[in-house]
Amino acid sequence: MARSALALIDHAARVFATRFGGSPAACGVAPSRVELLGNHTDYNAGCVLSAAIDRHVVALGRARTDNIVRAFSSEFDAPVDFQLDCLPTRCDGGWGNYVQAVFGALRSADVALGGAELVIHGDVPIGAGLGSSAALECAVAMLVLQLYPHRIESGELATLLQRWERDYVGVRCGLLDQFSSLHGRADKVIFLDCASGQHEVLPLGANPPAIIICDSKVHRQLRQDAPYNDRRGECEAACERLSRLLSRDLAGLCDVSSADLRDVASNLPEPLMSRARHVIGEHERVIAAREHLRTGNTYRLGQLMIDSHASSRKFFENSCAELDRLCDVAADQPGFLGGRLCGAGWGGCTVNLVAAEAVDPFMAGVHDCLDQASELPAAEIYVCHASDGARGQRLH
Ligand code: GLA
Repeated sequence: MARSALALIDHAARVFATRFGGSPAACGVAPSRVELLGNHTDYNAGCVLSAAIDRHVVALGRARTDNIVRAFSSEFDAPVDFQLDCLPTRCDGGWGNYVQAVFGALRSADVALGGAELVIHGDVPIGAGLGSSAALECAVAMLVLQLYPHRIESGELATLLQRWERDYVGVRCGLLDQFSSLHGRADKVIFLDCASGQHEVLPLGANPPAIIICDSKVHRQLRQDAPYNDRRGECEAACERLSRLLSRDLAGLCDVSSADLRDVASNLPEPLMSRARHVIGEHERVIAAREHLRTGNTYRLGQLMIDSHASSRKFFENSCAELDRLCDVAADQPGFLGGRLCGAGWGGCTVNLVAAEAVDPFMAGVHDCLDQASELPAAEIYVCHASDGARGQRLH
């Protein structure tokens, strides 16, 4: 297990002793993820390229003999208590809803659950586009499956957690985050076809570039009233129109090629045309990237990432001034191969591929540029590493 994750477990064990007394019986550890390519393709039956990274959420806990769940997070002050057999029906999007969603999801999969006391801790920035919610869900699920053992295949678990986040918490997300957190592999990236659930683990090449995160620290929101769900609605509307225009059933927007889209372009109104153009283009970029990675040509991935950000900016309108600026600054630095916004958009992070030998000058260059212009004073820039997926283990 990564050293940073062990330190998180130590800290969480101390919090557990203070909060509940004694020691936890088991833990779940789940990584966050970077979306390298394939923006908003997951809920459009498209493909995506991601990596689990070495920023983790850990959940430590022990079973209770009743049906009560008591959860405490070191990031949020308010503890969460609930009865397993009456989950709140109204969600406010607070962190407790994600814990409730996991218990609800596992129960719906016939896991014989009882109550639990648990502490959650992590070093994943929240709301930064790195899949913090899914990391929390996967860590809690891994813990609970240690406390109440049940065999559940990881692809099925990813789908289950995603559905509960979508239907229970109200974020209409796709499969990317949960799948990446559960299926990550050290030093590898994951190609996922969200239409079929098929995935492929791909190398980053013989001299792998570094993955560098630039976190703007500009916050974003994903719940009901945020643009994420609006965009999803527009994608669904575009898909319906395209299905009629092309006279065939579609599994999702990504079932249409760019060539087909061009043929019917004049009949698809804005903003639907722009949204479709972005999503379909992204899907095709991911397919192209898979070929490059299969043949060890990691460096070609960089250009596709640059194209991806331009498309987000122009067609999906999910970038913002701060993310555009971070991309522009990164593009001027030594070793830059490509970069783009990461995850939903409207704030959060950019992800950059940087030649391994240029990591230090790249990071220093970004800092200098921002300092000189007194821009984004809170921005944080760091290297992350592709990591193994979520795990659970007994602690004694
Ligand atoms: C968020 C969602 C994912 C995905 C990305 C955009 O991270 O949780 O399911 O849709 O945005 O690609």
